Amino acid sequence: MTLLITGETQIYGIFGYPVKHTFSPPMQNAAFQAVHRNAVYLPFEVHPDQLATAVEGLRSLQIAGVNVTVPHKIEIIPYLDHVTSTALRIGAVNTIRNDAGRLIGTNTDGLGFVRSLEELSFHPEGSTIGILGAGGSTRSILVALAEANAQFIYLVNRTAHRAQRLAEEFDTRFPDTQVQAVSLDQLYGLSIDLLINTTTVGMKDDLSPADLHRFHTLHHVADIIYSPSQTPLLKQAEALNIPAINGIGMLLYQGCEAFRFWTNQTAPTEIMRAQLLQLLQPRI
Ligand code: ATR
Repeated sequence: MTLLITGETQIYGIFGYPVKHTFSPPMQNAAFQAVHRNAVYLPFEVHPDQLATAVEGLRSLQIAGVNVTVPHKIEIIPYLDHVTSTALRIGAVNTIRNDAGRLIGTNTDGLGFVRSLEELSFHPEGSTIGILGAGGSTRSILVALAEANAQFIYLVNRTAHRAQRLAEEFDTRFPDTQVQAVSLDQLYGLSIDLLINTTTVGMKDDLSPADLHRFHTLHHVADIIYSPSQTPLLKQAEALNIPAINGIGMLLYQGCEAFRFWTNQTAPTEIMRAQLLQLLQPRI
């Protein structure tokens, strides 16, 4: 299908630095075309020194919405008119909607992750979850899992004090969800419904952040890495017959949730998934 740009075409995009590796433009453009929306989604490489003027540009050029990626997710917050409670809890924004000049920021990463768990038929409510890592991705996932009423969340990180700090922050913020920092050895001894890898281990090396043999009980595994599609951690899960997912679902559903935030319309999930898989295919 050819893209017809008219005087009424709405402009969306993504702010990042660098931005050339993003999968969002093909995924969101496929979505706009599928629902016959007169809209286009473009990459905007925004140097950190230019972030304030780029945000002003959203207003002056009446750009309808953007995604925000590394390194701007935290720094962009003060420039916005309103930030949703979820994004404030995470402390980062990945999606902005321009409501007639009023810029509203939200974060769809955690919700995208929780939606991806549907593939495992896994519901966080009342569950016990182990998370490997304590960076930005962990924050968004932690908030979404707590908002979905997970009961216990155990954090393990190479740099233990980062996990400790996160646990202290979130344990008091979500009284119904207990968040605790533990060592990997302590985690192995627990009964875990879902283990999540948010570290980069397995992305560019042939390493695994945990040995699944050592778990006392482990029912599901999720790795947020999507390339390679099967990390050593996921290979081990498959060998042990533990149901597991990679990060493609999180990438897809954060995009679907952004689409919904902008358009108030359900995203054409399967079209977006097919586009993503086609892009990822050469790497898989
Ligand atoms: P993101 O925003 O994607 O979460 P990040 O904030 O850079 O990225 O966090 C990366 C995570 O991967 C951190 O938890 C990091 O552990 P440290 O806090 O100790 O740095 C983890 N990580 C990266 N490389 C690792 C490695 N080789 N072994 C174990 N953990 C690693």
